[in-house]
Amino acid sequence: MRRNIVAGNWKMNCDISQTYQLLDALKEQDITDDVSVIVAPPFTNLQSANQALLDTEILVAAQNMHQEATGAYTGEVSAAMLKSVGVEVVILGHSERRAIFGETNALLAAKVNTALENEMTIIFCFGEELSDRKAGNHFDVVRQQLQEGIFHIEKENWNNVILAYEPVWAIGTGETATPDQAQEMHHFIRNTLSEVFDTDVSQDVSILYGGSVKPGNAKEIFGKEDVDGGLIGGAALNATDFTAIINAFE
Ligand code: 13P
Repeated sequence: MRRNIVAGNWKMNCDISQTYQLLDALKEQDITDDVSVIVAPPFTNLQSANQALLDTEILVAAQNMHQEATGAYTGEVSAAMLKSVGVEVVILGHSERRAIFGETNALLAAKVNTALENEMTIIFCFGEELSDRKAGNHFDVVRQQLQEGIFHIEKENWNNVILAYEPVWAIGTGETATPDQAQEMHHFIRNTLSEVFDTDVSQDVSILYGGSVKPGNAKEIFGKEDVDGGLIGGAALNATDFTAIINAFE
């Protein structure tokens, strides 16, 4: 059975005191039990966030990690390092990592392998650019990102994968995919998963939508059959808005 999940990607926001403030505010909210909640602060605040949330069900995720175990990779952080501070979830393939930091599908495939070898849960992100959608290529682009980035894994590893469809044109732009556009793509992804794997995989994996999800549109988007929650950017930086998005499932 797939789970409803709402994850907050804080991106490069919040120093340590802002992290504590946001988490304290979140802990004061009345959050429904029906949804798994994840927050992804910057690397520097992962351990503190994890400790601050020990008495809650909220999980902490990293926004990235390196594919190698150790070595001369200045500025990078390994899966084992994340696990050593209690982080079991990692976001991989965010469009900002792909576009700004040049992460390719092949590199992401290596990161996926490392995360799974370390028994971490992956939030695997993908999504088309505006030019792809305008050209009508969005299904092909998404299929290729999945094919090259994550379809090489074994069937049993899908238990440790959450997918996040984030059309690039909807991220931080205020422009959201319509609920029907989200449903259409999520349905396509589930069909593709049943072709490549089987219906157990396609029915059990949670597929999140990301891109300008706000309290005002969450209910309609999450109400779609194949949308199992959201990966939230800007609105995750405000405890009241983030909670309203989570509670859109009630
Ligand atoms: P926004 O919610 O700010 O559009 O960001 C979405 C996102 O990139 C989450 O990973």
